[in-house]
Amino acid sequence: MHEPYESGEAHGAAPYEREAVSSDASLDDRQVEGALRPRALDEFVGQERVREQLSLVLDSARRRNRAPDHILMSGGPGLGKTTLAMIIAAEMGAPLRITSGPAIERSGDLAAVLSTLQEGEVLFLDEIHRMARPAEEMLYVAMEDYRVDVVVGKGPGATAIPLEIAPFTLVGATTRAGMLPAPLRDRFGFTAHMDFYSPDELELILHRSAGLLGAPLAEDAAREIAGRSRGTPRIANRLLRRVRDYAEVRGDGQLSLRTARAALELYEVDGLGLDRLDRAILDVLMHRFRGGPVGLSTLAVSVGEEAETVEVVAEPFLVRSGFLARTPRGRVATPQAWAHMGLTPPPDAAFGAGSAGPASAGASAPGTAAGAGAGGGASGTTP
Ligand SMILES: Nc1ncnc2c1ncn2[C@@H]1O[C@H](COP(=O)(O)OP(=O)(O)OP(=O)(O)O)[C@@H](O)[C@H]1O
Ligand SMILES: [Mg+2]
Repeated sequence: MHEPYESGEAHGAAPYEREAVSSDASLDDRQVEGALRPRALDEFVGQERVREQLSLVLDSARRRNRAPDHILMSGGPGLGKTTLAMIIAAEMGAPLRITSGPAIERSGDLAAVLSTLQEGEVLFLDEIHRMARPAEEMLYVAMEDYRVDVVVGKGPGATAIPLEIAPFTLVGATTRAGMLPAPLRDRFGFTAHMDFYSPDELELILHRSAGLLGAPLAEDAAREIAGRSRGTPRIANRLLRRVRDYAEVRGDGQLSLRTARAALELYEVDGLGLDRLDRAILDVLMHRFRGGPVGLSTLAVSVGEEAETVEVVAEPFLVRSGFLARTPRGRVATPQAWAHMGLTPPPDAAFGAGSAGPASAGASAPGTAAGAGAGGGASGTTP
């Protein structure tokens, strides 16, 4: 079941294929996500604190009859940033303009967007950390003074013509808040930190989605899917669709616990929702680096992935689940990780000597309690 990676060859060439449990959006997701998105703050499940803070910001703006403060949302893929941006516009009854950091290569691209905004419009800037630097500076001014300085001409004769723009609300989203320059971060009136969802919240989301899809989902099946969704609504919705497919093709159309388990097994989603990249990371860490510590870039190269993918897509959940610890000297596999992979750590493995840091074990991980036996093979390590 767990093949060790003897060398990097197996991973060197082909990039990691997005599969059932990746938090990144596939084409299939994007097509169906629109239909499953909650449209109002009340329908948005979980993120209690963010919701409360946000509704305060929006209420007060409505009261003063002004555009709300600029809002930054930070959090991993599939946790609901885009959904929330759409809800903000809907709650304000304001038009929504959507663009993204990579689409803004020059400050002129941004000027074109900013200068055509209507009063009160919500501008959603996804992946804001990827925006070109010169555009960033233009954005500072626009956010603060509702003004764009359009540069005319080149070289010493160039002049900046100030252009007033309509008051708007910028909603920025980023999976990497740490990469935003401080002056930009400071110009947001409110930052919403999106966290992983609890299994209970994911169950609610699953029942809601099942209703929209017209799929009869049993309670225990919902619990099973929620437990394997890596705390992420996007994954929960995707697994739900795979279970529904399975139920329709191979079963009687009912989404029962049995069907759910069979479907999830078929898609190689393990008991805790770890996918191939997660397992590859743990495997490499254990087989090649004796459990670490190993640096992020070395780890990424060893699994044939971009460092950013490893850091943003895989690591947060591994850390949160207590499988991986980030230490000053690098990434370390925890005892839970060895157990989950069904391996016995070497006597000199890194986590023993206290090098893993105080927070390494992630005691509050969603699903670790249920997880020890669920992944299969975990019990083999105890004599
Ligand atoms: N709180 C929630 N309640 C119900 N459904 C949710 C919630 N959050 C997210 N979803 C669902 O999860 C899916 C993904 O959410 P969304 O696209 O907003 O994630 P994102 O944070 O923008 O991800 P990315 O970083 O990849 O852009 C959507 O289909 C949405 O329906
Ligand atoms: Mg998004």
